[in-house]
Amino acid sequence: MRRKPLSSTLSPFVPRGTREWAWRPVLRCLTSTALALVLASGALPLGAQPTTDAWKLPAEKADLKPGAGRELVVGQCVLCHSVDYITTQPRLARGVWQATVEKMRGKYGAPVPTNSVPALLDYLVAAYGAPAPAK
Ligand code: HEC
Repeated sequence: MRRKPLSSTLSPFVPRGTREWAWRPVLRCLTSTALALVLASGALPLGAQPTTDAWKLPAEKADLKPGAGRELVVGQCVLCHSVDYITTQPRLARGVWQATVEKMRGKYGAPVPTNSVPALLDYLVAAYGAPAPAK
């Protein structure tokens, strides 16, 4: 007796007469089962990763210099990045600090109230600024 072709028994989507196609769904099923088993057994590092480790942030390398207005910077400028961003700048003129603060507010959405900008700039210029050019 001639056996029915595999293709007609396995899937209606497999074109008739193509034997290699007929095995494709079977292989696919086996492959995903094997993959699921490997993942579940923790054989791959992907499945073995411990989930209880706490994130360790790098230690803050710099602290802000003391000075009037320092607490404003601490309160409003380290929400998004470390103070290193401020302390590692070259000594910038007031206008450049002002442009930086405006960029933080406008482009990056730093919630700095308008009326605290002058005091912030006073601190930034005193601690990390270039001396005002001689008049
Ligand atoms: C809402 C988030 C946020 C806040 C708040 C914030 N910054 Fe930034 N800051 C950024 C982002 C984003 C960058 C760009 C990071 C990068 O390019 O890697 C940046 C970069 C900087 C830089 C590097 C130079 C530059 O222009 O990119 C300086 C200096 C800086 N910030 C100063 C400040 C100061 C001063 C304040 C307080 C007034 C502040 N930031 C508050 C988001 C913020």
